[in-house]
Amino acid sequence: MRILGIETSCDETGVAVYDTERGLLAHSLYSQIELHADYGGVVPELASRDHVRKIIPLLRDLLAGAGTTLDELDGVAYTAGPGLAGALMVGAVFGRTLAWALGVPAVGVHHMEGHLLAPMLEASPPAFPFIALLVSGGHTQLMRVDGIGRYHLLGESIDDAAGEAFDKVAKMLKLDYPGGPAVAKLAEGGDATRFAFPRPMLDRPGLDFSFSGLKTSVMNALRTTEDYPQKSADIAASFQAAAVDTLSRKCERALKETGVRRLVVAGGVSANKLLRTALAQMTARHKADVFYPALPFCTDNGAMIAFAGAQRLLAGEKEGMGITVRPRWPMTDLHAPGRPLAAK
Ligand code: KG4
Ligand code: ZN
Repeated sequence: MRILGIETSCDETGVAVYDTERGLLAHSLYSQIELHADYGGVVPELASRDHVRKIIPLLRDLLAGAGTTLDELDGVAYTAGPGLAGALMVGAVFGRTLAWALGVPAVGVHHMEGHLLAPMLEASPPAFPFIALLVSGGHTQLMRVDGIGRYHLLGESIDDAAGEAFDKVAKMLKLDYPGGPAVAKLAEGGDATRFAFPRPMLDRPGLDFSFSGLKTSVMNALRTTEDYPQKSADIAASFQAAAVDTLSRKCERALKETGVRRLVVAGGVSANKLLRTALAQMTARHKADVFYPALPFCTDNGAMIAFAGAQRLLAGEKEGMGITVRPRWPMTDLHAPGRPLAAK
């Protein structure tokens, strides 16, 4: 089965072709970073319009690169939520219409399920069950994953997402959008022990996160510390250390509490090098394994949507003719492929 995946939930237009026998054939991505950079964050209306402009040329390039044609597609998967309503609508209308024109099924994919399953595109995918840490610009969640669609929320952020905290700290430090990679880069030249920022929620039981207090501490340090040449780098390094330490220790707690020995980390923040080092050390102590998507598939991309959609299409799931998106869509509303949603 050959599936086209389309991702348009935020500021990246991503398309990919995944073949259930041969694996990922090709993927293509257009990032709107430059478009939004002047505004310091994503402007939803500009994002939607740019997806409209880019999706067809991107698809043409993709099919040429994959050595395939529209006629050879057996299904279309598009991100149906969560995300920006207008941006989602572009991918959904395009994907649903294309599937209809080709006479193949279409399926709307949950963006975070895409992130979660992205490590399964790799040569040695994790077996179920595993613990998943999903860390993106909009989500910070720990889950126990017993199979595709069988997700049990163990904990989540009660305020800012981890990526959002990186982005906000970047803004305070007057760094470019998107903030995560910029903070990480600045931190390389900083002293992570210079500021003792809080590790929120570690003193309490449970697996929830909170990042807004950490953000406030960074703001205070910035205001009250006298300027010196290394100040910004030291703040970036100390902030990154606190955020990474918090994430790593919550993952450790989740592994201990569940007895599961596999950890999957996905979403944009999973590209963070310090986080990867910390998790490698922590999982080694517990004789556990840690899995990541390949770097291009940590942040938003079409391949993860093609893969997640393929799992659902294989099980016979498909959308009706209506085109709907869900800008807010709790992941716990998902169900195992082929099984109808439990009545609520
Ligand atoms: O998954 P993603 O591409 O989009 C969402 O679904 O949100 O994640 C984007 C987030 C942004 O907040 C970005 O700052 C963060 O991931 N990010 C990073 C790094 N690369 C991306 N955060 C920390 N370190 C990085 N290297
Ligand atoms: Zn994402």
